[in-house]
Amino acid sequence: MSKGYEKLLQILSEIRKITDFKPKVALVLGSGLGEYADKIEIAATVNYSDVKGLPTSGVTGHKGRFVFGYVKGVPVVIMQGRVHSYEGYTTEEATVPIRLMKLMGAEKLILTNAAGGVNPEFAPGDLMIIEDHISCFVKSPLIGENISELGERFPDMSDLYSKNIRSAIEASAEKCGINIKRGVYIQLSGPNYETPAEIRMCRALGADAVGMSTACEAMVAKHMGMEIGGISCITNMAAGICANKLSHEEVSLVAGRVSDSFERLITELVIRIG
Ligand code: HPA
Repeated sequence: MSKGYEKLLQILSEIRKITDFKPKVALVLGSGLGEYADKIEIAATVNYSDVKGLPTSGVTGHKGRFVFGYVKGVPVVIMQGRVHSYEGYTTEEATVPIRLMKLMGAEKLILTNAAGGVNPEFAPGDLMIIEDHISCFVKSPLIGENISELGERFPDMSDLYSKNIRSAIEASAEKCGINIKRGVYIQLSGPNYETPAEIRMCRALGADAVGMSTACEAMVAKHMGMEIGGISCITNMAAGICANKLSHEEVSLVAGRVSDSFERLITELVIRIG
């Protein structure tokens, strides 16, 4: 057995002491979007800090727990707050919770985040379907011994954000009356926001939104054969696009402002794919 797999099974057994809930769909809620988890039919919760071996999150606006329960009858596990590598973890460590949600039984994964708008046609408050991503500025979470029990050494990354789920997000947005955008997400390391020159580089590379998470999570999920969907909440225009100074408070505030349409969209999406 690979060392990585053995470690994962050990952490899983810790969680299994608290709940044996088997989710179908896994959800990761980004900055300012976490309240959704309080509104589902909750069956159990597990704080990351209560599980030996799990990385923990200390970011304001991130609760740091798994919430298990039902969205309109669909069994889900929600990460209410994610772990970021800028908190001092390797990208491999920060994505352990994603691996665990697959081992719990989830075959589909919806990743959400707060992101800066790089595409000048976007505006704060927009929601964007992640069509693809650029991750090569952060270290791949797949570097190291391959966890061969979960996936192959050289996983394919085309159709990373599945066409099925992208269509389901689009249909859900239409049903909810949301004018959803589409684009490419780029992950940079954070925790600092980018410089205007870096944002010009992101745009030149083809990015529409920028953030500090998600791409690495999608990569480990794809390695394990999960079907993935991604939604960015554009909380601000990225550095240099408008004169505003960037702050985490603004990010949380704008994410909170769109939480109503975001929550309706997620519920509709879970029903469709669950
Ligand atoms: N840059 C990086 N991450 C972010 C931003 C941003 O402008 N907004 C929200 N998350």
